[in-house]
This record gives sequence, C-alpha cells and structure tokens, in this order.
Amino acid sequence: MDPRGLRGDAPLLDAWLLFSAQARAGGLVPMSVPGHKQRQDLTGAVVAGDTPLYGGLDTIKHADVLLAEAERRAARLWGADWCRFSVAGSTHGNQALALAVGSPGQEVIVTRNLHRSLLLGLVLAGLRPVWVLPERDPASSLPAAVAVSTVRAALARHPGACAVFLGDPSYVGTTGDLVGHADAAHQAGVPLIVDAAWAAHLGFHPDLPPHAIAAGADAMVTSAHKALPAYTQGALVLARTARLDRARLDRAFDATHTTSPAGAIAASIDACRALLARDGKELCARLITLVAGARRRLSRVPGVAVLDGPGVEPAKLVVLLAGTGAHGNAVEADLIAAGMPVELADRDTVIPIVTLADDESTVTRFTGVLASAIERHRGPPRRPVPSPAWTVTPEMAIPPRQAFFAPNETVGADAAAGRISAELVAPYPPGIPVLAPGEIITAGALAALRAARSEGSRIAYAADPSLATFQVLTA
Ligand SMILES: Cc1ncc(COP(=O)(O)O)c(C=O)c1O
Repeated sequence: MDPRGLRGDAPLLDAWLLFSAQARAGGLVPMSVPGHKQRQDLTGAVVAGDTPLYGGLDTIKHADVLLAEAERRAARLWGADWCRFSVAGSTHGNQALALAVGSPGQEVIVTRNLHRSLLLGLVLAGLRPVWVLPERDPASSLPAAVAVSTVRAALARHPGACAVFLGDPSYVGTTGDLVGHADAAHQAGVPLIVDAAWAAHLGFHPDLPPHAIAAGADAMVTSAHKALPAYTQGALVLARTARLDRARLDRAFDATHTTSPAGAIAASIDACRALLARDGKELCARLITLVAGARRRLSRVPGVAVLDGPGVEPAKLVVLLAGTGAHGNAVEADLIAAGMPVELADRDTVIPIVTLADDESTVTRFTGVLASAIERHRGPPRRPVPSPAWTVTPEMAIPPRQAFFAPNETVGADAAAGRISAELVAPYPPGIPVLAPGEIITAGALAALRAARSEGSRIAYAADPSLATFQVLTA
C-alpha cells in the first residue's frame, strides 16, 4: 500500500492509509458523506479508495490542521511561503490566482497562448487582458516562450497593469527566461504568476530548468496529476507573499474550490511531494535519460523530427511528423489500438506524456509502436500546418467579462466574420482559445478552425462544435 515507505513524511497519505485499512477491516459505520459509505455492493469498485478529506482523513473539525501541515511541507519544498492543494486541477488554480490579483477593470499582462481556464479566470475576476504573444519556432511554427522584451514593452505601455501571467513551459515544452520576466515584473512593481501546469517535476534535477518559484515568480500553479504520479485533478498552487496578499490568496482559492475535497486526491499530492523531496533527483535523472533515448531513436526514423535543444524542457517529447507524410490522427488511432493513448495528436504532431512513472520498457515499447505506425501511414513529405492554437493573433473588441455577460445571438458561420464572439472556442487539446469572448471573429480564425476540424481536431466549448454557427454579441 505504501511501496516506497512515504507515509512517515506524508501526513495526508498516512491518514488515507489508516482510514482505508479501517474501512477494509469493517471498522467504520460512517454517518457522514460520501453516500457510498465505503460499500462496494451498490456501485462497485468505482468508489474504492474514495475518502473525504473532512470526516475521512481526519475529523471534520481537525482536517484543516492536517491539510495545513501537508501544504506547509509542499511550500517548503518549492521555496514558497503559501501553498494550497487543489482537487480541481490547474484549472481551479489559474482561476484562484486570477481572483487573487487586482480588481475588476484592471489590466493584466497575459500570454495569448493561455489555457482556457485562465481566460475564464479573467472573466471571473473582471481583469482586462493586455495580450503578449510568444515567439515562434520558424521551422515548426510551434510556440516558443514570450520574450522578456515583449513583456517589458507591455508593462511600459500599461503602467496600471496589476500582474504578469505567463504559461511556462508551453504545451509543447518550450521554456523561457523566467528570471528575466520576474525582474521585469518586479521592476514594474507587480507580481509574476506562472501557469506551470505541465511542470511539477521542474527544479528537481540540475539538468532541468528551475521551477517558476525558484526563478523568481511570485506564484505558480502546477498539476500534480500531469507530471507526477498523483490522482487525476490533483494540483498545487504555490506563492511567495511579498507581493501577494496571503489572506486574499486564501479567499480566492476557497471561492471556487469544492467544500468536499477528495481525500485520496489530496493524499496523492502529499505523497508526490514526499516522493519528490526524497527521490526526485534520481527519478528525474531516469526521466531525462528516457526522453533523451526516445528522442534519439525517433530522430533515426526517416522524416521524423523531435523538439530538442536549448529552450526545450528535457522531459518533453514532441514528435513532428510532416517529413514522414503520416497523418497524426492515423498514427494516434494505431497507438490507441495498441493501448498507448497519447496526450495530443494532430496532423503534424504527436505529443506523448512521459513521466516519473515510466521506465525503459514502457518508453522503448512506445517508440517502437510509434515508429511502426509511422511506417504504416507513411506518405509524401508535406509542409507542416500549425494548429490555430499556436498562431492565434487576437483582435479584442471588448474585455472578456463584458462579452461573457452581453446579450448574444446565433449566426451562421458565413455571417460570423467581423462579429464579436460571445463564446470561447478552442481545439482541445491544447485548450488554447482561438476565439475568446470579446474578440472579433476574423476570416483567418474561421478558416483555421475549420481546417483544424476537418483534419480531425476536437473543437471544444463552442455551442456548435460543427462550426456551422457561432454565438456572437447582439449587434
Ligand atoms: C497550460 C495549462 N494550464 C492549465 C491546464 C488545466 O489543468 P487541469 O487539467 O489540471 O485542470 C492545462 C490542461 O491541459 C494546461 O495545458
């Protein structure tokens, strides 16, 4: 139940193990939620291991104390002085951090390659985005980091901005100069906040970039369930409180978090923290070696390219297919049939997630199956067409919050060009809005969305995912 002996340094994990043992031994007749009462004869094993934080891991009156101890240990590990465990992913963390800065109507400097959760955070908080665009890799058109000079210029043009929000690493693992960004933000007297959803492992090995807090950021959110062996939805929100108010951070976090956090999720975050603290360097070393080996093997497949080199996170594997002529969706279908679903596949790109839980056998098997799938679907090399998520250049007409609440109507796609979008439309993955509420629906955005859909992308959050109609503000 605790194969690496982590419970001694993980109070929530220890409590979960104790509770589970008691439940298994039939020693519990709970007269509290959850309604399954630890029985599996009604809905089955799907509820196995489900334990509430309040009234499960500890009494309803005392669980906060236990949770605070686990969060204190995480804050110390990341060099923060405030930490909260979220059971609602980096989605919740981003929204909590948006609610923790500024006040409605204030500007924030934000990368337009943001995840939709942060865009909705801006709606909730009423913040007005000043968009900054990332640099782009000319060969692949994939996004690189936002340049520090871009953020400095935006801060100079918008002296009333209350924070800088960046996503680093990007969805494709590109990383930027967070130290420079922190300097730029701090010289302007505002906090730097980083969505590091994919990067919970960063900073735990000298060959990995430092994590955002170590680089000088004032707050970061990261999904423990993405890079670390945590339960789905587990995330950490971490902050240093010199430029952010601790009580406001707590209020913002609690405003949108459930009052019934799952104890198993929280305990798994605690277990990941204990694992990183003790074995992080060794596990990250294995991860870096595994990904380097995979990059080497895949680069030998004719036509395949992988992202690599400075500015690319060493644990990220991004496979570029255009030179093979194989379509990413066909390759993905073969991988799914082989029991190897990947995180993202579009026409020209396949992005598997390799984590601390992988080993030589899983990664070698994956690269072998991937190489065979590419051979099966090989065709004439083609020019890559970047996902509209990477190339979006917004034209904001009114702030997202104003548009979110404005009267709207449904129009046919042909009538939508030039109108103001009421909705958020994003190919998912990666979940970067191509259209955000308040933005002009340009002919370019329409064409790019249609092209992504016809190439097999899932179009998410649109009222009409077929893209035949759009929700626009009433004229
Ligand atoms: C950059 C980024 N931020 C935030 C999120 C949301 O994370 P979660 O799924 O943990 O809510 C994602 C999800 O893919 C993401 O890519």
